[in-house]
Amino acid sequence: MDPRPIGVFDSGLGGLTAVRRLRQIMPSEHIIYFGDTSRVPYGNRSSDTILKYARQDLRFLRSFDLKAALIACGTVSSNCLTQLQRENDIPVIGVVEPTVRRAADLTRNKRVGLIATRASVNSGAYQRQMTKLDPQVEMFSQSCPLFVPLVEEGRFRPGDVVIETVAREYLKPLQDAGVDTLVLGCTHYPLLEDVIGEIMGEHVELIDAGCESAYAVRRHLKEHDALAPEGQTGSADFYASDRVADFERLAAIFLHEDISHTAWQIDIETY
Ligand code: DGL
Repeated sequence: MDPRPIGVFDSGLGGLTAVRRLRQIMPSEHIIYFGDTSRVPYGNRSSDTILKYARQDLRFLRSFDLKAALIACGTVSSNCLTQLQRENDIPVIGVVEPTVRRAADLTRNKRVGLIATRASVNSGAYQRQMTKLDPQVEMFSQSCPLFVPLVEEGRFRPGDVVIETVAREYLKPLQDAGVDTLVLGCTHYPLLEDVIGEIMGEHVELIDAGCESAYAVRRHLKEHDALAPEGQTGSADFYASDRVADFERLAAIFLHEDISHTAWQIDIETY
């Protein structure tokens, strides 16, 4: 048993899809979330910049006594998970491995699509992981640079002509490739599940990186006897690097719960 908190971070709000699931499946855990809202999006940046930002994000979270950290960001996980694991003496879990594992298990025709940020797709991390798990699976990747800004603008609902037009264009090559499983390799994308599901059709399974990474954290803690004591009442603290009113407003949509007046702003450049 380990009562200490789990740290979770993302470039912005997407990682809250993982927090929501963590809170559902492990209600006794304390969670500390950091969203780097002053520097989002990361997905169009160089791997050096992504590593620099991720180090600062994790350094801030480690100002708390954490038992584990979840990188709830596809972009950071695919570009610098290994470095962050090497530099930290607590378990650091990313989203790529658990997400790809689920896709490999689910695909029947061995044709899997990946949508993610440009930096995630260019890193080749999802593809490498799939080759490791099942070399017979063919992966078709598509970067979707407009998705994160649109989601953070609240433009993710079916019927919104902007998101539907953009999504149709991004998803066309994956429809043409005949994938039966689609990895949502960015933690912002679960908010687009309805829009994407409608375009891809019912026969295509959508894999949610936030959700799969939350299960991976639980597996890890269980295996290491590090779950919170059962009687503990869990909590979540939220930090952002830009105006918290904006963060709280959008966070409520990601979390399906109101967090008004609970988030704190920090200066991430000092970490
Ligand atoms: N949620 C982040 C991810 O999973 C978004 C990346 C970005 O900021 O562009 O990749």
